[in-house]
Amino acid sequence: MAVSVREVAAAAAVSVGTVSNVLNRPDKVAPATVARVQAAIEELGFVRNDAARQLRAGRSRSIGLVVLDVRNPFFTDVARGAEDRAAEDGMTILLGNSDENAEREGAYLDLFEEQRVHGVLISPLSDDDLPRLERLRSRGTPTVLVDREAPGGAFSSVAVDDVVGGELAARHLLDTGRRRLAFVGGPTGIRQVADRLAGARRAVEAVEGATLEVVETDALTVLQGRTAGESIRLRDAADRPDAVFAANDLLAMGVLQALVMQGTVRVPEDVALIGYDDIDFAAAAVVPLSSIRQPAALIGYTAVDLLLKEAAADEGFEREPVVFQPELVVRESTAPVA
Ligand code: RIB
Repeated sequence: MAVSVREVAAAAAVSVGTVSNVLNRPDKVAPATVARVQAAIEELGFVRNDAARQLRAGRSRSIGLVVLDVRNPFFTDVARGAEDRAAEDGMTILLGNSDENAEREGAYLDLFEEQRVHGVLISPLSDDDLPRLERLRSRGTPTVLVDREAPGGAFSSVAVDDVVGGELAARHLLDTGRRRLAFVGGPTGIRQVADRLAGARRAVEAVEGATLEVVETDALTVLQGRTAGESIRLRDAADRPDAVFAANDLLAMGVLQALVMQGTVRVPEDVALIGYDDIDFAAAAVVPLSSIRQPAALIGYTAVDLLLKEAAADEGFEREPVVFQPELVVRESTAPVA
């Protein structure tokens, strides 16, 4: 039988209201009383009934966050930033991993709506998700896009300008003397991938004689990067690109493993390599990886801040796209050709 608030109040010789204050507004209660109530909670093994409290309050004190790939350190850094901002308001983050799979993404959106979360942050799989997110919001769950903008400003969003980021990466490769570039990434239905490729194309088009080929992958993982890297390694030197721009650092790590493991292709001497995100492993790679840095934790922090503002606002809330600028980080993997 669950311990009730009334039993805790009796054990601590205080009113039920005081126990409620200790649970929800401890700063309003004398420290000695807080200690006495907390001792009674511990002793009796009281667990607050969140479902009843959520029902009364109308909304949970949790925020749902759906990321594309929880194995990607970029998204764990986004989640950390989101947690930090949520904690400032005594709230928590429930993390869901869509794994770039539409069914899993939908299941998490259903779960978070049933849990009556305070709001949803999502890095959506594709634009096809937007009508679903519109319905979620129209039924009362505030929603903010993470890591990409919403077409037409339909949602608040926090992202980096990935077209500028892709252009920065490709222009850096061109500035180091490379001319036969390859973009490794996919599916191109993911907006982040499409934007980075568009930026790379823009940089290549501005340089006479430069070319860009696309090696599309099925996902943004190390394994897919290794497969793409192996296909590049097996080509004749004359037919091989002299530089690779990988859509994120996980792909770049996979390309690097495939190229250097057999010892037949050198990075950067034969093929320069740049990734995207600047995750911690980038600097520690066997050939320190150049990358395009995204302020991942700040993206997560800002997304929660926007969500809380929208959840607390009345009907006339002005939604805003927050766009951060990407930053080029140069390391050994793109050293100029000697
Ligand atoms: O998951 C896809 C990619 O988009 C991540 O690596 C990160 O770059 C995000 O912006």
